[in-house]
Amino acid sequence: MNRQRAVRQMLEDLRSAGVTHVPADFARELATALQTAPAEKRTAPVAPTPAAKPSLAPAPRTQPVVSTAPAVVTPAPAPSASPAAPTVARSAPVAPAASLFEKPAAIPAAPARPCLNLTRDERVAQLKDVAARVAQCTRCEELARTRHQTVFGVGNPEAEIMFIGEAPGADEDRQGEPFVGAAGQLLNKIITASKLTREEIYICNILRCRPPGNRTPAPDEAANCREYLDAQIATINPKYIVCWGSVAAQNLLNITSSIGKLRGKFFDYQGIKVMCTYHPSYLLRTPTAKKDVWEDMKFFRRAQGVELQ
Ligand code: URA
Repeated sequence: MNRQRAVRQMLEDLRSAGVTHVPADFARELATALQTAPAEKRTAPVAPTPAAKPSLAPAPRTQPVVSTAPAVVTPAPAPSASPAAPTVARSAPVAPAASLFEKPAAIPAAPARPCLNLTRDERVAQLKDVAARVAQCTRCEELARTRHQTVFGVGNPEAEIMFIGEAPGADEDRQGEPFVGAAGQLLNKIITASKLTREEIYICNILRCRPPGNRTPAPDEAANCREYLDAQIATINPKYIVCWGSVAAQNLLNITSSIGKLRGKFFDYQGIKVMCTYHPSYLLRTPTAKKDVWEDMKFFRRAQGVELQ
């Protein structure tokens, strides 16, 4: 038996033994042997096979190719998996080099955030605990010095919908509750028109203290207060959040786009659907924007299966 026939025989033996692929070095050696062997009349033609994988292509040819024999063993039907076999998909056996790019078996998706599944009483207790810490907070020296009281949040501890505003104003600072001033009155109208009630929502702000003169919250103030907001979100575990105004939207989502660009779609925040729209205070200054907020609320409520006219 000459060299080429011996190689062919070896390939046949491997194939009938169920070997579906061989180490790259070995395949290359076989391919070279087939090319460099003297031509011979084929007595036992090898079955036609698909083109060799590029990574197993034979070394540059210096002699005319004599045979179309493959560089890799033709994949035999996949043997039935033994109990010890790995669970990686085997429908298309791949050459060793390609296996580097094989996708791992499916990895179960990690939950977006821990699902607390707290009872109502546990939520109430947890919120009370955080509110007590907020009441003592002095992280923002100026705000702690100038506030009458902190404004933590209000509403249903089991709410599916959470509203986030910017910061307490003068009325909220005096009464200790979010959205009770002029902007709050308009928000109440929006809530009612949207077939919602304040009692089924949870409402809070990016800040829990009033910035003097109602100035825009500074980034470090928002950062100082974030722990409390995160605790409220984690406790309430809402399905939906509405961000009222750019301060709420940009801080929650950690983005810089204008509110005009953020409207009209849902963002995903840790598995919560977030919609952003104009702040009621902006609507008081710019009544023409009310129709946009109405469109946003129609879009928002449609997601909950409620059609608004
Ligand atoms: N504006 C806000 O953003 N929040 C309030 O609580 C009141 C006015």
